[in-house]
Amino acid sequence: MTRFNQVCEQLQQQPKRWAITGVAGFIGSNLLEALLKLNQQVVGLDNFATGHQHNLDEVKSLVSEEQWQRFTFIEGDIRQPQDCKALIADCDYVLHQAALGSVPRSINDPITTNDVNISGFLTMLQEAKQQQVSAFVYAASSSTYGDHPDLPKVEDIIGNPLSPYAVTKYVNELYSAVFQRSYQFPSIGLRYFNVFGPRQDPNGAYAAVIPKWTAALIDEEQVFINGDGETSRDFCFIDNVVQMNILAATAGLTTSEVFNVALNDQTSLTQLYDLLRDNLAKHGVERSAKPEYRDFRAGDVRHSRADISKAQTLLGYAPQYNIGQGLSLAMPWYIEQARAKA
Ligand SMILES: NC(=O)c1ccc[n+]([C@@H]2O[C@H](COP(=O)([O-])OP(=O)(O)OC[C@H]3O[C@@H](n4cnc5c(N)ncnc54)[C@H](O)[C@@H]3O)[C@@H](O)[C@H]2O)c1
Repeated sequence: MTRFNQVCEQLQQQPKRWAITGVAGFIGSNLLEALLKLNQQVVGLDNFATGHQHNLDEVKSLVSEEQWQRFTFIEGDIRQPQDCKALIADCDYVLHQAALGSVPRSINDPITTNDVNISGFLTMLQEAKQQQVSAFVYAASSSTYGDHPDLPKVEDIIGNPLSPYAVTKYVNELYSAVFQRSYQFPSIGLRYFNVFGPRQDPNGAYAAVIPKWTAALIDEEQVFINGDGETSRDFCFIDNVVQMNILAATAGLTTSEVFNVALNDQTSLTQLYDLLRDNLAKHGVERSAKPEYRDFRAGDVRHSRADISKAQTLLGYAPQYNIGQGLSLAMPWYIEQARAKA
């Protein structure tokens, strides 16, 4: 039995109270769904900057009425201490996901990204420390590896940040370490590597590559690949991320740590395009169009692949889905979204 299975059993026997920021977003709403299905109490905060009420509605439709009753939603902002205080009150664990994602967004508007991702983070961390929660787990990012060329990426070895977004995520880690040193308050950063799955927003200028390309393929629109197509990523299905959050929160770590969250796998953008086309074909959506290659995008890391041995050793992380399995599970959701829009 994996540690994750054991923890899930324990949680069902002795439910805990969880706080999730960014609960109306992609990762936050998936954490909400998983925790409610484990019969946990959950309080969620969101200001709908990039999250959606329809994500919460979808979770409601996927859990029982009794499970949904265990969820409380606060519409608020992580930069407001009183909102953070209300969220965290009486919670055992905090899963801090709220931030403004996207490298290009941060290049276009570094001030707002800084404000939300750093001031908001600090406000949450301070409140979690005041209330002495059992664990504060936050969304860090693989962008922190910046221009360091080594593969696979090992937690201790990072390069220079390549975007304002990467700076904000690194500053989160610095605050996490300093709260440990100054106040003996530990927290755990999860460096997510290109997460994908249901409820990841396919719309808007800052959409992530998998939902964006899938929607474009379904709608028979041109797909653009930034660069030569050899840029690579360690794409990580959302259920692996949910597993890591639950493992990290319940690990009882007494020092601030960061962990890679991915597969130790590498898929180029050209390979990804083919995988998406193959997966769509399995669902009856045949597409023969070729992608169009254009300039590299500013701020993008060239290659990415995670060493996951630290998470495996210290947390018992055992990712259950590789990219192919994750895409097979996610594809019906993307197709459904596209049909609903049409
Ligand atoms: N998706 C990925 O591949 C990935 C990779 C690395 C790191 N991350 C990090 O994971 C976290 C979740 O990302 P996601 O993909 O679910 O993005 P998302 O945009 O779907 O979710 C973020 C949520 O935070 C909310 N939010 C933003 N500003 C807020 C504020 N000031 N107050 C309250 N709520 C606010 C948004 O409305 C949204 O619901 C982010 O911290 C992101 O930086 C994501």
